[in-house]
Amino acid sequence: MKKIGVLVTGGAGYIGSHVVVELIEEGFGVVILDNFENAESDVPQRLERIVGDEIRVVRGDVRNGTLVAETLKKSGIDIVVHLAGKKAVGESFSKPLDYYDANVGGAISLLEAMQSSNKPALVFSSSATVYAPSDRMLLSESADLGPINPYGRSKLMIEEIVSDAVISGDLTSAITLRYFNPVGAHPSAMIGEQPSNASNNLFPFIAQTAAGWRERVRVFGDDYPTPDGTGVRDYIHVVDLARGHVAAIRHLMGRSPQGKHSKVNLGTGTGYSVKEAIDAFSQACGFEVPHDIVGRRPGDVSTCVADPRLAAETLGWRAEMSLERMCCDHWAFQRTLRDRRPDDRV
Ligand code: WQD
Repeated sequence: MKKIGVLVTGGAGYIGSHVVVELIEEGFGVVILDNFENAESDVPQRLERIVGDEIRVVRGDVRNGTLVAETLKKSGIDIVVHLAGKKAVGESFSKPLDYYDANVGGAISLLEAMQSSNKPALVFSSSATVYAPSDRMLLSESADLGPINPYGRSKLMIEEIVSDAVISGDLTSAITLRYFNPVGAHPSAMIGEQPSNASNNLFPFIAQTAAGWRERVRVFGDDYPTPDGTGVRDYIHVVDLARGHVAAIRHLMGRSPQGKHSKVNLGTGTGYSVKEAIDAFSQACGFEVPHDIVGRRPGDVSTCVADPRLAAETLGWRAEMSLERMCCDHWAFQRTLRDRRPDDRV
């Protein structure tokens, strides 16, 4: 029986590689399209060792519409999971045009190629950064939108473009997944977060400090209105996040979503502070990870935690893995990187 064909753009990246593993293990036929701008060149080989099968990889950029259209036609793609794009909030302030070109331009190019093929359905990778800063304890999908950085604005623009494409019939149906804070790594420790440039996210900093690549973790502020004063976030294991994509695809394959564009949070509904994350990671690696309290980082909000109910109700999906598991898996992968330090070591 023909497998359901899934094109994963950005499929060699941190989130994408974990999505590829879960899709293949669930019996889908997967093709990766990636320009490897933010992915190690040997990720496809590592993925093939995990799944025990060959994986088709197209090296290219979603902005190459001809390549995308050709790939869609040749590979019998039924669903596109669009993850390719730039995702560093800090970098987006200094290079906004690059972010709009890669993220918005890339999405338009992809949608045009999809329209010219058999119109596969779309799963789009969005972000909690599309929400406006809020004092609400849990953010539902109906919370106010209002991104405060070019990265978040690019994601919201794409959500709107996808909605218009579904209304016009250019796209049959779509689900947008709004990620909260993905962390952790595959239990095999063969894939995980390996930022090729200076990542500004907390978990890579904690892991690289634990590995001795950095002196100390800088805790950006302890004067927020939170239990211990440090920022609270909804950390979600990247494998749970990947499984959310499988659930979204199964939902799209059903009858109900035709002609609809749903937006769904992928988070756990539980928030942890920076200090709690550092403590949990210290438990996982067996020693205290050194850290200092410094000033707040501009643009940070105090608390950002998902209301996960809609994902449970519509996709039948909820996150299952604990913060402890996230830290253990993240640390196990970090330890495999001994000789792969990024250029920006402190
Ligand atoms: C988490 C907490 C910081 C670094 C980002 C982006 C975006 C999105 C989710 C995809 C905050 C604190 C951080 C450090 C610290 N991903 N912190 N010291 O800003 O919540 O969201 O990830 O869409 O990439 O929006 O994540 O990991 O940068 O920060 O104290 O060195 O850790 O203040 O409270 P953030 P983060």
